Amino acid sequence: MDLSTRYLGLTLSHPFMPGASPLADDLDTVRLLEDSGASAIVMRSLFEEQITHEQVAAFTHSEMHSESSAEAMSYFPRPESFVFGPEEYLEHLSRVKQAVRVPVIASLNGTTPGGWLDYPPLIEKVGADALELNLYHLALDPATSGAEVEARAVEVVREVKKAVRIPVAVKLSPFYSSFAHLAHRLDEAGADGLIIFNRFYQPDIDVEELQVKRSLFVSSSQELPLRLLWLAALSGQVRASLAVTGGVHTALDAIKAVMAGAHAVQLVSALLMRGPGYLRAIREDLMRWMEEHEWASLQAMRGNMGLLRCPEPEAYARANYMVTLQGWAGAKGGQG
Ligand SMILES: Cc1cc2nc3c(=O)[nH]c(=O)nc-3n(C[C@H](O)[C@H](O)[C@H](O)COP(=O)(O)O)c2cc1C
Repeated sequence: MDLSTRYLGLTLSHPFMPGASPLADDLDTVRLLEDSGASAIVMRSLFEEQITHEQVAAFTHSEMHSESSAEAMSYFPRPESFVFGPEEYLEHLSRVKQAVRVPVIASLNGTTPGGWLDYPPLIEKVGADALELNLYHLALDPATSGAEVEARAVEVVREVKKAVRIPVAVKLSPFYSSFAHLAHRLDEAGADGLIIFNRFYQPDIDVEELQVKRSLFVSSSQELPLRLLWLAALSGQVRASLAVTGGVHTALDAIKAVMAGAHAVQLVSALLMRGPGYLRAIREDLMRWMEEHEWASLQAMRGNMGLLRCPEPEAYARANYMVTLQGWAGAKGGQG
């Protein structure tokens, strides 16, 4: 049974890896993840603001100390509340790299071209095999158009690609007005991988205290279909390899993601709930299923659900929507 896959130009023995999270914060857990068969280790993100904050602190009188920047900085968590500061991040990356033989993928989270772009070359120098770029951004400024938001994302990717030789994957949200267009532009800008999709943690409201309530929920398999749709829409259409993140909890979830086009399958919630050993269990379940269904390789299974590769994908998507709505058979009957 051949589970091997190519992701970001790396040959991996199988597609399962822990996604960016605290799972790689501790070296014993990192070794446990490798022993459980992780095909790569992805580290948590270092944030643009952490790096910029250090740079501002180093140049107290710099122009960056404008009113708006000072105000923005005041919302920002105190440096000591981060698990790793920028220097510590590089040191930890180096230790993780020494602890395992599988590829190590570092992660940066930023949205604007700026001083934090000094870090990709440092991350490369310390030995990361690849870099994830998490472009988490909420477009709340009514003066900024969708085209500007997208142009900035493309520019960041271009800048990072110019700065390093290691592969760069872009972790994206689905909240763009024309996601397929953006994905193709990122592909043209040289992104080696697209990671679909970032999860958003929208704040809730505490109605008694009149305060914003932050919460971090684990995902469920219900979050997967949005990813499947866009994997299928991009599979075979972009040069970049594709990874799924968000809602993969079982081997069947992973099979669907691969059939939709994923080269890599990232798990976080499932591993946080079940422990690193679940990586082995889900791989064994995948192999059992493939054997029962007579699939000889993952490669053969990949991308054969090109849901949207018909001549009129938009008409197909609308038709699907209509049929789904008409299929509701009432509260008792469930979906027809
Ligand atoms: C506790 C926690 C910490 C996370 N930290 C990061 C991070 O630093 N960088 C990042 O890109 N994603 C981060 N994520 C998002 C995960 O990498 C992943 O994309 C998301 O949890 C969806 O995958 P899942 O359904 O398997 O949990 C974090 C998720 C959790 C639950």
